Amino acid sequence: MKKILVTGGCGYIGSHTIVDLIQHGYEVISADNNSRSKISILDGVEKITGKKIKNYNVDLCVLDDTHAIFQENPDIIGIIHFAAYKAVGESVENPLLYFDNNLNSLINILRCCQEFSVPNFVFSSSCTVYGNPDHSPVTEETEIKQAESPYGSTKQMGENIVQQTVNSNHTQAILLRYFNPVGAHPSGEIGEIPIGRPANLIPAITQTAIGKLPQMQVFGNDYPTRDGSCIRDFIHVSDIAHAHTLALDYLIAQKNKSNCEVYNLGTGNGYTVLEVINTFEKVSKQKLNYVISGRRAGDIIGIFANNEKARNLLGWNPQYSLDEMMQTAWNWELKLKNTQENK
Ligand code: WQD
Repeated sequence: MKKILVTGGCGYIGSHTIVDLIQHGYEVISADNNSRSKISILDGVEKITGKKIKNYNVDLCVLDDTHAIFQENPDIIGIIHFAAYKAVGESVENPLLYFDNNLNSLINILRCCQEFSVPNFVFSSSCTVYGNPDHSPVTEETEIKQAESPYGSTKQMGENIVQQTVNSNHTQAILLRYFNPVGAHPSGEIGEIPIGRPANLIPAITQTAIGKLPQMQVFGNDYPTRDGSCIRDFIHVSDIAHAHTLALDYLIAQKNKSNCEVYNLGTGNGYTVLEVINTFEKVSKQKLNYVISGRRAGDIIGIFANNEKARNLLGWNPQYSLDEMMQTAWNWELKLKNTQENK
């Protein structure tokens, strides 16, 4: 079996990717210290796939503990590295927490990748590396600008570290730049579990709609866009997950032309915040209680992807519509509420 180590496997994108990997014939182990995730998400993975996933509860910033995973699993043929903090606002308040955690964990994983000659490495990056682009859609060749936050800096630096490390060894790498991952697995068994008050738009919408939050804010409607609110490329988390499986397939088949390639993962459609809210209200039949407030520091006006490279080379074809993204996100919020009520 092709054994893959998924770091951050209990996280939102990590758990969805484990499901997709298993459904495409991979064997998977996870490494996640559950500092920002819940081990219970793997119960949902088991319900969907029938597979019990072994998770190593390890702080990847501790090299000896990280090394022990590889000593116990010398047959790992690929690594997908998700484990990182990802709250833009928190990173602005506490930059060193982000540089320490996100970069030291990456460096330790790459050290082990090198020592154990793991041939394939996929890095979780983000459209945030583009900063505030002059225009959209952005391609992988679009100029990389000054990051808007320390979180964005860790993704830019992370890409550089991977690029320059694999140049010196036999690992082949792919960097995947996610646009805005949203929604939940159609089974309703796994989804996003924000820790504390959600920073991201979709959990803020669903938690307001279900009554966990009294009201949500639309951060600004005075941007130079069609309705004044920001534009983003929302992409279903299951589409993002499948791109990781395709990236591994591609590397294992040695189809890559260089030892570190980069791909945009977005639908190629930009929607405004208000359009997303309208779509949610239509799909959920819930009126959303929101107010227009001031702009949020660090927000960019708009960005959406040119995804032709991933389509043409990885064979990736995102399936989910915005309606389905909103429906699955809402179904998951309803599931969370039912689960909490039945405790
Ligand atoms: C989207 C839009 C907000 C909340 C960040 C990272 C990116 C990725 C996703 C990790 C913005 C508006 C939001 C709210 C609002 N992170 N908004 N009210 O900032 O585009 O991307 O998170 O994978 O790398 O950069 O996502 O969902 O926070 O915001 O009006 O309560 O929704 O102003 O315009 P963002 P977001």
